Amino acid sequence: MSNISIQSVRKVYPGGVEAIPGLSLEIEAGELCVLVGPSGCGKSTLLRMVAGLEELTEGEIHIAGRKVNNLEPAERDISMVFQNYALYPHMSVRQNMSYGLKNRGQKKDEITRRVAEAARILGLTDYLDRKPRQLSGGQRQRVAMGRAIVREPAAFLFDEPLSNLDAKLRVKTRVEIRDLQQRLATTAIYVTHDQQEAMTLADRLVVMNAGHIEQVGTPMEIYARPASLFVAEFIGSPPMNVIPAAAAPDLAGIANADADLRIGVRPEALRLVENGPLKLTVRVIERLGSTSNIHGVLPDGKTELIASIPGDSVPAPGETVAFEVDTMDLHFFDKQGKRVAT
Ligand SMILES: Nc1ncnc2c1ncn2[C@@H]1O[C@H](COP(=O)(O)OP(=O)(O)OP(=O)(O)O)[C@@H](O)[C@H]1O
Ligand SMILES: [Mg+2]
Repeated sequence: MSNISIQSVRKVYPGGVEAIPGLSLEIEAGELCVLVGPSGCGKSTLLRMVAGLEELTEGEIHIAGRKVNNLEPAERDISMVFQNYALYPHMSVRQNMSYGLKNRGQKKDEITRRVAEAARILGLTDYLDRKPRQLSGGQRQRVAMGRAIVREPAAFLFDEPLSNLDAKLRVKTRVEIRDLQQRLATTAIYVTHDQQEAMTLADRLVVMNAGHIEQVGTPMEIYARPASLFVAEFIGSPPMNVIPAAAAPDLAGIANADADLRIGVRPEALRLVENGPLKLTVRVIERLGSTSNIHGVLPDGKTELIASIPGDSVPAPGETVAFEVDTMDLHFFDKQGKRVAT
């Protein structure tokens, strides 16, 4: 357990790229904090500064109450798990997991105990004598996790650890990571650009955009009340529909809305009805099994909309259908993309 405090941190890379203009974030002891945002928004940069792999241009980082700016990565009491597991190919699973402890002069029977325990937790007991090349991608990923666990660090730092796995294994492993982190109650920062992975893993979600924080909150807080258009469109799948007020004059209660107002509606908040304020000409239907996505265009001929409805009893392409939505499921954003209180 440990808390991580990121205070007014700025990062300018040599050559002048300002990856992070100035960012503050408090991560509570024992929490799994997920940094999510599009490619290039500075997630890895921030994580690497916490790890000690990048220098800070300005600001301070504290781990468990200790300022770490000038500490080497090895002195920071953290374990990092990367996308490419970087296992030693010539070493067995056991050796890969023991290596860091041996290097730090840990006693032999303590190493044996910790490796056995981590292998048990991760279901790797039967694989300890294999080499990485004799393992599947998911098993290798677990060895990388095991290597992080045995160090019993104050914090885990994950940078897209699942992106090399296929879709099915990614979902399975993400459940394992969640379970593991809860049982160990180790503070963790987890970086991903996958909003679904972020939603399902996070105690707290930090949505980043161009080096700054757009919003911090629990996944459900962010889903229910996105603070900006950026967040609204980034979190949720399919993404939230964004409709210029002028394209949907019949939506409840916005008769006197100013022209720059944009209305957000989640695809799953739309209900197919006989008569409703949103008329849609259907273009494409996606059947996903338990739900179907209806893609179409509003009467203005250019605003596209996605509705996600239960079941597969859906209209045909070319048909015009109507949707309604509860007023409380409408989100409003101003010209700058900031949420407007309703
Ligand atoms: N070593 C470097 N030198 C110069 N610029 C860099 C360096 N590393 C990253 N950058 C730049 O800093 C910005 C943030 O990069 P970063 O790797 O932190 O993004 P990211 O959010 O992790 O993206 P991704 O999801 O693609 O991994 C980008 O504009 C990137 O080009
Ligand atoms: Mg990255």
